[in-house]
Amino acid sequence: MSVTLNTLEDFYMLLSTGFDNNKVVKLLLSKYRGEDKTLNRVAIRPITLQGETVLSFVYEYQTNHITKNHRIDLAITEIKSLLGDDFKSAYLTLRDIEVQLEFSKKGKLKISQHKAKQIQAAPEAHNREKNRFVDIQRPFLTALKVTDKQRKLIPAMSNKWKQINKFIEVFSQALEVSPHDKKTPLNVVDFGSGKGYLTFAIHDYLRHTLKNEAQVTGVELRQALADLCNETASTLDHQGLDFVCGDVKTHAPKQTDVMIALHACDVATDYAIHYGIRANASIIMCSPCCHKQIRPQMQSPELFQPMLQYGVHLGQQAEMVTDSLRALLLEANGYTTKVFEFISLEHTNKNKMILAVKKAKVNAKEQAKTLTQIANIKEYYGIQDHCLETLLNESMTEG
Ligand SMILES: C[S@@+](CC[C@H](N)C(=O)[O-])C[C@H]1O[C@@H](n2cnc3c(N)ncnc32)[C@H](O)[C@@H]1O
Repeated sequence: MSVTLNTLEDFYMLLSTGFDNNKVVKLLLSKYRGEDKTLNRVAIRPITLQGETVLSFVYEYQTNHITKNHRIDLAITEIKSLLGDDFKSAYLTLRDIEVQLEFSKKGKLKISQHKAKQIQAAPEAHNREKNRFVDIQRPFLTALKVTDKQRKLIPAMSNKWKQINKFIEVFSQALEVSPHDKKTPLNVVDFGSGKGYLTFAIHDYLRHTLKNEAQVTGVELRQALADLCNETASTLDHQGLDFVCGDVKTHAPKQTDVMIALHACDVATDYAIHYGIRANASIIMCSPCCHKQIRPQMQSPELFQPMLQYGVHLGQQAEMVTDSLRALLLEANGYTTKVFEFISLEHTNKNKMILAVKKAKVNAKEQAKTLTQIANIKEYYGIQDHCLETLLNESMTEG
C-alpha cells in the first residue's frame, strides 16, 4: 500500500486508520529536544487489557522506563502533544508499510515511506468486539430497543450494536485529526436518519462522553420516522437533538461541522456530500448505498469483457468507480479522504465508508493533479455525468 503523505494531518490520518484497522505494529518517537534531559524516546504499541485494545506508551528514560496506557482516541491527542515540539522524529511501523517523519532544525517536515521488509503479523491478537466506544448502559439504547429494560443487548440487535460502536469509534478518531476543537459546540446533520440509531449515538457521545454542547439534527424523508424520533428525544430529555422531515436534495444549508449520511440511496449520497462541502463541514462521513447513476454510462475496454460478463463484477466496478470519484472530488475540495470497510461483511453488505476530514491547508498543485485524475478516469470509462461533480460545478457557476 502506498499512501499520500505530505502533511502532519496525513500522518495522523494514517495513524488513526492504522489503529482502526489493527495495522499499527509500533510507533517510536525519538530525537527528544524537550526540557527533561533524561528522556530518550517513547515506544507506543497496541496491547490488550481486560479484553480492550489500548495503547501502551513506554517512556524510556536514561535509567528507568515508565509505562502509561491510553485509550485509542486519547492516544492520538497524546501523540500530537509529544510530536513536533518535544520529539523531532517518528518511525511508524504498520503491517505493510513503514513511515519515517522528521522535523528539521528549522521545523521543516519531511515524511518518507517504504514497504515493510516483511508483512508483519497482526499486532497482539486482541478482541475488537469488547473495545466498545458506547456504554451499553446508556438509556437511548433501551429507548431504541437495542437493549432491554435491564440494559442487556437484545440478541436480534447485535449487528446494529456493532455498527453503532464502530460508527462512534470512526467518528471519534476523525474528530481527533480534524481541525475542529473538541470543546466548541459542534453542529451535526445526519441525512436519512431513519430510526435514529446513529443520530442518537453521536448526540449521546458528544453531549454525554465529550461534554460538547452539540446540536444534532436528523433529516429524514419519512415524516412518521422523524416524529417517532422526536418523541423519543423529548422523552429522554436529549437537549440539542431534533429530527426534521426533509429531503437531502433540497434541505436548506445551515452551519454544519459534521455531515453524516449512512446508507442514503444512490445519488442521495452525492447530494449529502455536496451539502457537506458547501457547508464547509470539518468531517464528512458517508456509507454509500446502491450505485445506479454511473453503471449505465460506463464503457469498459474490451480487455475487461471476460471479467464483466459476470454481472456481479459490473456492479462492483460501478461501485468502485462511483465511490473513487466521490473520494477524489472530496480531495479536490480540500479534504483528506479515506475509503474503507466500515464493518465487516458478515454484519451487512453495505459496508463501505467514505470518511473525509477538512485539511487545515490546501495544496493547489495537488488539487489540480486530482482534478486531472478525475477527468482521466471519466474519460477512460466514457462517463458523461457524475452527480456530485455536476452539483459542485453548478454551485460554482451560481457563485
Ligand atoms: C437505509 S436507511 C438508513 C438509516 C440510518 N442512516 C442508518 O444507517 O441506520 C435510509 C433512510 O434514508 C431515508 N431517505 C431516503 N432518501 C432520502 C432523502 N432523499 N432525503 C432524506 N432521507 C432519505 C429513508 O427514508 C430511510 O429512512
